[in-house]
Amino acid sequence: MTTSIESQEIQMDKESLSTEEIEDLSYYDFMGYMDVPFFNIGGLSSIDRLAELCKIGKDQRVLVVGCGTGWNSCYIAREFECNVVGIDIAEHMITRAKERAEEMNLTDKVDFRIGDAYNLQFDDNSFDVVLTVFVSQFLDKTKAFKEFVRVLKPNGYLGINEMYKADEIPLNAIDKVTEGEKIFQDITDLPFTLNTPTEWKNAFQNATFVEIYVEEIQDPTQNVSVSKTIKEIGGYRKFLSILWKMLVLAAKSKKIRKKYGQISKGKRILLRDKTTSPYLGYLLAIGIKP
Ligand SMILES: C[S@@+](CC[C@H](N)C(=O)[O-])C[C@H]1O[C@@H](n2cnc3c(N)ncnc32)[C@H](O)[C@@H]1O
Repeated sequence: MTTSIESQEIQMDKESLSTEEIEDLSYYDFMGYMDVPFFNIGGLSSIDRLAELCKIGKDQRVLVVGCGTGWNSCYIAREFECNVVGIDIAEHMITRAKERAEEMNLTDKVDFRIGDAYNLQFDDNSFDVVLTVFVSQFLDKTKAFKEFVRVLKPNGYLGINEMYKADEIPLNAIDKVTEGEKIFQDITDLPFTLNTPTEWKNAFQNATFVEIYVEEIQDPTQNVSVSKTIKEIGGYRKFLSILWKMLVLAAKSKKIRKKYGQISKGKRILLRDKTTSPYLGYLLAIGIKP
């Protein structure tokens, strides 16, 4: 058996792309291909709380927009015994999400499809709950929320778990936040914006939602259980195998190393920088369709 990094195949389960093909993937197809399990910083406790706020219950029909590799969707379907449809614009995310549903024996409870938040392939009034987890911050909220209202049943809930910047924030921190936003806009080619709690609330109001409620969590690590998260991902073995594949790829490709460098700079600015972190966090916000 050879152990040199150069000779490692980047074989991701059933698919296999060349390094050049991987380099050319869009950011989220790349993340899907690498099987990155989740993106939200609040962990499972933030998902539990969002489900509680949206009163998700047995046999309800829940739409998860921008479901990524399906991790949160499968967790919600299993824990709350509801039926989840997950859509994502990135094909490789949906491939992984379907694999996850099979691995977790949840194919009767979850249904993953390629789809666009701005043009949902569902009838009006067809879901009890619509959720976005670290997705609406990448979208044009006016356009997306209009679609979310359309597919929700009357009295249905929109629940979001997204980052925010404080309503009051000093100028030097604003400049840094803008730099962080720009990094993620460039990497993803999406209009990534950190809104203030008031701006998020206004987005719900403008989309006609009522009984809007916003909960801010300033310390993103609060209540995050690393061991529970790793267990949910599929254990330490799976976690380390994802890390290893990312390292092997970095060793092979300068382009990928540059991409990792940008991601870690953006994350540092938005999650760990002393100037910005007192003013940033994530929030859970809900509203009801009248
Ligand atoms: C930061 S990831 C979050 C994934 C997942 N919700 C999670 O928390 O792990 C953002 C996701 O939104 C998806 N996305 C971006 N624009 C979209 C759109 N217009 N319609 C559907 N999905 C979209 C991306 O492909 C990506 O999977």
